[in-house]
Amino acid sequence: MHTVNSRLLEIIGILLFLLIMMSCKHDIPIQVIETPVTGGEQTCSADTVYFQNSVLPLLNSSCAMSGCHDAITHKEGVNLTTYGNVMATGGVRPGDPANSKLYKVLNQTGGDRMPPPPAAAFTQAQKDLMYKWILQGAKNNACNDCDTTLFTYSGAVSPLMNSYCKGCHNPASTGGGFDLSTYAGVRSIALNGKLLGSIRHDAGFIAMPQGGNKLSACRITQVQKWISAGSPNN
Ligand code: HEC
Repeated sequence: MHTVNSRLLEIIGILLFLLIMMSCKHDIPIQVIETPVTGGEQTCSADTVYFQNSVLPLLNSSCAMSGCHDAITHKEGVNLTTYGNVMATGGVRPGDPANSKLYKVLNQTGGDRMPPPPAAAFTQAQKDLMYKWILQGAKNNACNDCDTTLFTYSGAVSPLMNSYCKGCHNPASTGGGFDLSTYAGVRSIALNGKLLGSIRHDAGFIAMPQGGNKLSACRITQVQKWISAGSPNN
């Protein structure tokens, strides 16, 4: 009787162990070292692609959304939320875009293409941007590209939407029901106060860009000035 009981206990023990192992199968987060950003105060050079200014906002709004390559889901182990994570998990070979997974997936067909259908493929300009950034060494660089005296729709607001918001707010994927790929769409959230409230992270609004860093103070000021001017299509 005694031996049967200890056998039983042994089996229960093994089953419990297996259960615990199975529930712990989520991969252990990779310890990512974040390299400091270089050049943030320098004016931008037209020949250089800057990770912080162009690449990260694009990845955040087209790839690092919830359910895809954000910190929680990180599909196929790919987490595209920060420079360190992109370099640790995105298959980037600095200087060699043609053999970098992060670039190659943009040109694949069918379901292998990233972002996968029904999301739109990257435009040629966006693909070129990724290519050039990797070719130039895939650095964690930045430049000062914001000027608070510029606050027209075409010069400031629309480019900001394209880089930081459109990936989640377009006709195919209208986050919260908002399409920010058109002037009319942006104007509607400017008028109801949600644009400013969401980017300033004001209480009572959902903070935007979702899952990304807060926009710089300069960018928020540009939007604020544009709204104060009556959100014109200028
Ligand atoms: C990663 C995807 C993603 C990005 C990037 C993103 N949004 Fe959103 N946004 C969403 C989703 C999803 C919702 C709906 C959230 C909800 O209802 O819980 C939303 C909601 C909103 C709302 C409604 C907020 C409220 O309080 O009701 C506004 C306004 C908005 N987004 C503006 C923006 C702007 C402006 C940007 C760029 C600066 C941006 N979003 C970037 C996904 C995104």
